[in-house]
Amino acid sequence: MKLLEAKDLNIFLAKSRTPIVENLSFDVASGEILALVGESGCGKSLTGLAIMRLLPSGVEARGKLFFQGKNLFELSQEEMRAIRGGRIAMIFQDPMVSLNPVFTVGYQVAEVLVLHQKISFKKALEQAASLLAEVGIPAPKERLKSYPHELSGGMRQRVMIAMALAGNPSLLIADEPTTALDVTIQAQILELLRKLRETRDLAILLISHDLGVVAELADRVAVMYAGRLVEQASCVELFKNPLHPYTKALLEALPQPGKKSLKALSGHVPPPGARPKGCKFSERCPIAQKRCFEEEPSLRASGDGHLVRCFYV
Ligand SMILES: Nc1ncnc2c1ncn2[C@@H]1O[C@H](COP(=O)(O)OP(=O)(O)O)[C@@H](O)[C@H]1O
Ligand SMILES: [Mg+2]
Repeated sequence: MKLLEAKDLNIFLAKSRTPIVENLSFDVASGEILALVGESGCGKSLTGLAIMRLLPSGVEARGKLFFQGKNLFELSQEEMRAIRGGRIAMIFQDPMVSLNPVFTVGYQVAEVLVLHQKISFKKALEQAASLLAEVGIPAPKERLKSYPHELSGGMRQRVMIAMALAGNPSLLIADEPTTALDVTIQAQILELLRKLRETRDLAILLISHDLGVVAELADRVAVMYAGRLVEQASCVELFKNPLHPYTKALLEALPQPGKKSLKALSGHVPPPGARPKGCKFSERCPIAQKRCFEEEPSLRASGDGHLVRCFYV
């Protein structure tokens, strides 16, 4: 069953109407891990924030976002507050931004539990300890009394995940969850997310610029470029048979054992308001033809469950 379904999601600057994300459609099934991947500036974070209805001021969204069959855009502020941090939770790259430095981690996890379960604070603290244990924090009872700055980056990200779990979510939006961490800690957090998907049947929308992270975790991958979907396939299919020149370039830029020099992608993602007329990737594309600069290709099926936006693959 589809848990989340985005249909023609458009995100734009309210004043100038400059499009940022255009006609983006994707879905996430219960317990599925869908990755949104693309370089910085493609519109991944704003897509995550749109689902939470937490877009920054001056940025607006249109379209349909069905969660468990209900269009999130049609919910009242109050209904949305109950879902946010409840059935849908979000974690970010830097846990220090979301954690309050003046409260203990026990207090902060317990606060979420009280909010969503209407239980006593004492009960909530007990549950908080078991959540800390679930996310792999050693000596959880003692850790309840720690302040965020007393923990390592990896432990802080585990606390954020515990807070996300406190509302018993069915969807976790993880925006660059391991980008700020070093490689070994990164692998441990990915392992934790994988475990939580199994034990809790948790669906995850994994937002990442890093195809290496995506390869570790995702079931399906949606590749974004300049605010639109350019390719979508199962993770296995995408790595075995990438079609879009952008996806191929991202793959070639991945570090691989036994490969010394990386083929870095040259150029950058055109910002909103300065996107080329035809295919948004045309300026950087090694196989672009005249048509690509005039007309934008539409997303089309190429094989089973594989979508691609390119005239020439
Ligand atoms: N608050 C904002 N106001 C105006 N433009 C924004 C705002 N936030 C992001 N943008 C622009 O929207 C585009 C997409 O941003 P974002 O979703 O953060 O991309 P990603 O997460 O893929 O790096 C970028 O070009 C960014 O500069
Ligand atoms: Mg981002």
